[in-house]
Amino acid sequence: MTDTQDLVSWSFPTRIVFGEGAAEQCGVEAVRLGGQRALLVADKGVKAAGLLDPIRKALDVAGVAHESVLDVSSNPLESQVLGAAREYDTFKADIVIGVGGGSVLDVAKLVRLAVTHPEPLAQYDDAIGGGENIVGPLPPMIAIPTTAGTGSEVGRSGVVTIQATNRKTVIFSPLLIPDAAILDAAMTQTMPPAMTAATGMDALTHCVEAYCSVGDHPMADAIALGGVRLCHNSLRAAVEDGRDLRARGDMLKAAMMGAVAFQKGLGACHSLAHPLSVEFGMHHGLANAICLPAVLDFNRSAIPDRIAEIARQLGVRSDDPDTLSFECAGAVRALRGAIGLPSDLSSQGIEESDLPRLAALANADSCHKQNPRSCSQDDLLALYKACFDDS
Ligand SMILES: NC(=O)c1ccc[n+]([C@@H]2O[C@H](COP(=O)([O-])OP(=O)(O)OC[C@H]3O[C@@H](n4cnc5c(N)ncnc54)[C@H](O)[C@@H]3O)[C@@H](O)[C@H]2O)c1
Ligand SMILES: [Fe+2]
Repeated sequence: MTDTQDLVSWSFPTRIVFGEGAAEQCGVEAVRLGGQRALLVADKGVKAAGLLDPIRKALDVAGVAHESVLDVSSNPLESQVLGAAREYDTFKADIVIGVGGGSVLDVAKLVRLAVTHPEPLAQYDDAIGGGENIVGPLPPMIAIPTTAGTGSEVGRSGVVTIQATNRKTVIFSPLLIPDAAILDAAMTQTMPPAMTAATGMDALTHCVEAYCSVGDHPMADAIALGGVRLCHNSLRAAVEDGRDLRARGDMLKAAMMGAVAFQKGLGACHSLAHPLSVEFGMHHGLANAICLPAVLDFNRSAIPDRIAEIARQLGVRSDDPDTLSFECAGAVRALRGAIGLPSDLSSQGIEESDLPRLAALANADSCHKQNPRSCSQDDLLALYKACFDDS
């Protein structure tokens, strides 16, 4: 992507345990990390799906005491992090285990920050370079994802709404990466089809945007393309038959690979998606699914070869690179339709008159700074308009 050899740094540090029965390893993994008293962070949906039971059992077998907190909402709040941190202290825990989707894993990651750093979480906001104020060591953590989308289990950030600003705030530091991730397809089997579809499109968008983003990161590029291929092969099957463990496992891999890859960067699609969640409560993956095709079309003139390569991984067949890059957005639209997701913002309670305000918020979001084609606020507005009535 670049002819220069700018100084860059590449790293892939997480220990990942994958496969059938992996969840049963969490006791062994906790002991390996020196844990004797675990704070389990989950939410009510995860508990209701019965997903805490095998984890508690595995901890009992390994002789690790445990206490659970379930107060985590889908867009987690600072108060929930602080509440879980109090529980960590009261229980005298020495390890955190997150069992859930991206929301739960983010809270679990940030509990370790809150119990070691007494200052308000706002001080660690990535927008003000707050990650520099985070000093290790943090307590050890195991992440057990029950959705296949965010890849937070291998990521360096935690996202939380800060009370003082009511803004979804990214806290970013390599120290936040969990010490181990346990990927067990059985833990995602209970996800309903619409959630499987939306979270899967988040994984796909991470892979696509990472591969397209500016910067030189050959490992992230290769992993991103592998993740796109897994989504092409298995997202539809995971939605159609939630019990298909092969497809579920592939989507867990794709989500994890997307988050590993997006340490390279993301792009305009995530900048468009973030305000849709904050202002309209849209699920993050659904917001990405609606916006991604328009962003691919927008980026085509800047990186036609990369977009052609993504099209190949999505199963488009042609010997002509122009045809491939042209067909890429269509392949994403086809996948989105096949998994039953809506295609336009107008169906999501958004009015055309909301779009200028949303474009200003998208412009303030930093993700589009890594987009391969620079985009102004007007470009972002045009992209929202293109997604408004996409068919
Ligand atoms: N840290 C990061 O790098 C990163 C990246 C992207 C998104 N995020 C954050 O992740 C969050 C979205 O995460 P998500 O998409 O995984 O959804 P989620 O964690 O918000 O969960 C959504 C719902 O699904 C339920 N659920 C989870 N797993 C289930 C299962 N196996 N069976 C039945 N129900 C289940 C939960 O109880 C919840 O009600 C957002 O808050 C977003 O900000 C973080
Ligand atoms: Fe995302």
